[in-house]
Amino acid sequence: MVFGLTFGKKKAPTAVVEVSTEPRDEPVLILYASQRGNGEGHAEKLAAQITDQCSVEKIQRLTKTQAQITIVPQCMSVDDFLTDHKCQWTRLVILVVSSYGIGGAPMNGRKFRTLCDGWVQDAKKEQQGSNPALHFLDGLQFALLGLGDSYYKTYMENPTVTHDALVSKGATLLVGKGTAKDDTNHPFCAADATDGPEEQHKVMDQWTEELWPLVANVVIQEPLDESKLKEMQAMTEQSM
Ligand SMILES: Cc1cc2nc3c(=O)[nH]c(=O)nc-3n(C[C@H](O)[C@H](O)[C@H](O)COP(=O)(O)O)c2cc1C
Repeated sequence: MVFGLTFGKKKAPTAVVEVSTEPRDEPVLILYASQRGNGEGHAEKLAAQITDQCSVEKIQRLTKTQAQITIVPQCMSVDDFLTDHKCQWTRLVILVVSSYGIGGAPMNGRKFRTLCDGWVQDAKKEQQGSNPALHFLDGLQFALLGLGDSYYKTYMENPTVTHDALVSKGATLLVGKGTAKDDTNHPFCAADATDGPEEQHKVMDQWTEELWPLVANVVIQEPLDESKLKEMQAMTEQSM
């Protein structure tokens, strides 16, 4: 059974999204790149909270639909995603990524960073016309929480490369009120450690609170075809 979900103001033309009420599971990846555990701890907290914050009933309330969706989270480092998890994307991915060294990736995110650097290089060649554009991650939606410290000249470099790489392959950043902090340099939420962990965690917690409605509104959409997810996986593996 389907019914319409409408967006837009009264009297303005509205887009109608068909929402199925068939019960189904929705796998969601929660990935982190974290050196000292700040981002990893937050990602694990998200994984522990998501099934309650986006329970069947809360998704219905948040989306004003009768969708019957059970979220099934899986939390791991971005490098484990590439190796152990064999690049099996879900259409919604939540990332918590810090910077380490001189704008580099944490130890558990170095392979993923190499992949992202390659994708950013591809995008430059595409702009110069020497490579065809391959947007094999279209349909993938991601939320990104960047951790860093503006004390460093390479502030937020790793989350920035992660963002640019995913977008260059066609993925879409989920942005809601508060998910991109009012920090014009970054399209994603940048949680700065420079004023101490309390200030940084305030931003992280605010981002998290505002994440749940975004998650709910993604998971009620028609899932991607299995073949599309397989293509994302194969093309990512090919890029490694
Ligand atoms: C040795 C070291 C190098 C760092 N390098 C950067 C950097 O280049 N850019 C940045 O924005 N933050 C940098 N940071 C700050 C961390 O990204 C920040 O403290 C973050 O909250 C750490 O999260 P994590 O524990 O999940 O790795 C660095 C921190 C340390 C200790």
